[in-house]
Amino acid sequence: MKLDFFVNDEAVSLETEPQRRLLDLLREDLGLTGTKEGCSEGECGACTVLLDGKAVHSCLTLAAQLQGRHVTTIEGLEKNGELDILQRCFVEEIAIQCGFCTTGMIMSAKALLLQNPNPTPKEIRTALSGNICRCSGYVQIVNAVSRAASEMGGGV
Ligand code: FES
Ligand code: FES
Repeated sequence: MKLDFFVNDEAVSLETEPQRRLLDLLREDLGLTGTKEGCSEGECGACTVLLDGKAVHSCLTLAAQLQGRHVTTIEGLEKNGELDILQRCFVEEIAIQCGFCTTGMIMSAKALLLQNPNPTPKEIRTALSGNICRCSGYVQIVNAVSRAASEMGGGV
């Protein structure tokens, strides 16, 4: 199929099989390796990206679902050389160890803040409940998202 969609606000045209996974289109065809593959079956959240502003598992999203739609990956958050506020808060709150889960965590948090700029810690935990971290512990991650919300003018 000929696939026309948008990745990080840029128009992309690809010739691809309709059953190819978005995760593979991003990593293999477009070289956007910030999105990670963990479980490959919708359980770990490492592959999370935004599709029209909503968090989705790119390991379970197929090319056939993407025509005309907008995908945002971790590479699309930095603007004009400045980290997104969530990226900066993850660094400043030391919410990263190995980093494997981090891009998925940040994309899930981004989807939450787009929908709810003033989440409670419980709402943050619920929004991130599909993202598994094996090493950093979740307290710093929740603190990072809370801090980003409050710096953006929300606050918890
Ligand atoms: Fe997609 Fe784990 S790799 S949810
Ligand atoms: Fe290592 Fe989360 S920082 S899996």
